[in-house]
Amino acid sequence: MHHFQYRQGHLHAEDVAVARIAAEVGTPVYIYSTATIARHYEVFARAVGVPRHRVFYAMKANSNQAVLATLGALGAGADTVSEGEIRRALAAGIPADRIVFSGVGKSAQELAFAVERGIYQVNIETESELELLSKVATAQGKRQNAVVRVNPDVGAGGHAKITTGSSANKFGVSFEAAGRIYARAANMPGVKMLGLATHIGSQILELDDLEAAFKRMAALTAQLRGEGLAVERLDLGGGLGIAYEMAAANDDGGERIAAYAAMIERTLGTLDVERGFEPGRLIVGNAGILVTEVLHQNLRPHTTFLVVDAAMNDLVRPAMYEAYHEIWPERQAGPDVPRKTYDVVGPICESGDTFATARTLPETRIGDLLALMTAGAYGATMSSTYNSRLLVPEVLVKGAEYAVVRPRTTFEDLIALDRVPGWIGA
Ligand code: LLP
Repeated sequence: MHHFQYRQGHLHAEDVAVARIAAEVGTPVYIYSTATIARHYEVFARAVGVPRHRVFYAMKANSNQAVLATLGALGAGADTVSEGEIRRALAAGIPADRIVFSGVGKSAQELAFAVERGIYQVNIETESELELLSKVATAQGKRQNAVVRVNPDVGAGGHAKITTGSSANKFGVSFEAAGRIYARAANMPGVKMLGLATHIGSQILELDDLEAAFKRMAALTAQLRGEGLAVERLDLGGGLGIAYEMAAANDDGGERIAAYAAMIERTLGTLDVERGFEPGRLIVGNAGILVTEVLHQNLRPHTTFLVVDAAMNDLVRPAMYEAYHEIWPERQAGPDVPRKTYDVVGPICESGDTFATARTLPETRIGDLLALMTAGAYGATMSSTYNSRLLVPEVLVKGAEYAVVRPRTTFEDLIALDRVPGWIGA
């Protein structure tokens, strides 16, 4: 389900013409739909039983202040993985008591910051981190709420680089060690152990692996309780996938979310725990597009390259994970427009800077606008300035209004980040 549709032959984001935004803000540009973000959050939150259970939006997917503020106003919490993310969430008005802090490499400074702000929960991933957290919190005269992230040895996900739950992956304490570490943590002065967490991967479309992982979490919960330890919370992570082939599937995600919620009831329903969820992609993935202009055509015997003004530094997913993004022309093509096969590439000096290979599109000309669909998650947040390209501006649409929620940076900003030491001379 998303709110990017053709009206009178032109692509719109809710009620705003994409071409108008492109003309006024320039390209490339990320465009997000408030209605899509809100709908996904609300459907998910209802399905998983908020407010009895809790949703912490995984803000690594999209951490724009306007997106966070939109979700925060709907009641969402934030799943964070760095001090920077905690600061961004707080700045957007998400209160500390709705923030969880995950991640394999939290520093003493980051933990101290989280404890000082009084966040809802730290998800502990190693024994040394547990010791560090206890020390840091004790120094502040506090006990920090925490859960232990367990690696259930069930990996899943759309690509090897985004699988996290297999024992070969760096995430979480091993399933075998979890009981011992939990018991140890329960006796530490600076931490209050409240439960367990897991997260096995991203872009998961089959529920079987999630179910297997959750069954292991249920068994571990029963085991710990049998040893007299309290387990009040189960953080079930994120990872539920979305349809990247939107036009074909016309998938609104509702069925998958309902099946996920039913599976959780089935596997964990009898446990009296507060469940936490960390969806990222599911909330914002289909809520964003990257709009780009065709700069050149390079006609070759075997294909035609469409060279567009967006590149892998703006949206790295195709280059990094061989990810598929649909490409919609801004101008809807009638049946009389011939279809042609193109390779859609960016201007960066690497062959990996390719958005699509052998993609069939309506005949496209220089100056046309194209939308890379389903770019709301892990698009802008993974962007860089490689090739000294400026970070792409971001626009949020709500009904007939739009706002630039991150302006394009300037070349002056870019160059001013560096310093030339005096010994080099003038
Ligand atoms: N919780 C934890 C602990 C995570 O590591 C992640 C994602 C999430 C929640 C949210 O997962 P989601 O619901 O979005 O699947 N850059 C990759 C995805 C990396 C996901 C990393 N962890 C991509 O573009 O596909």
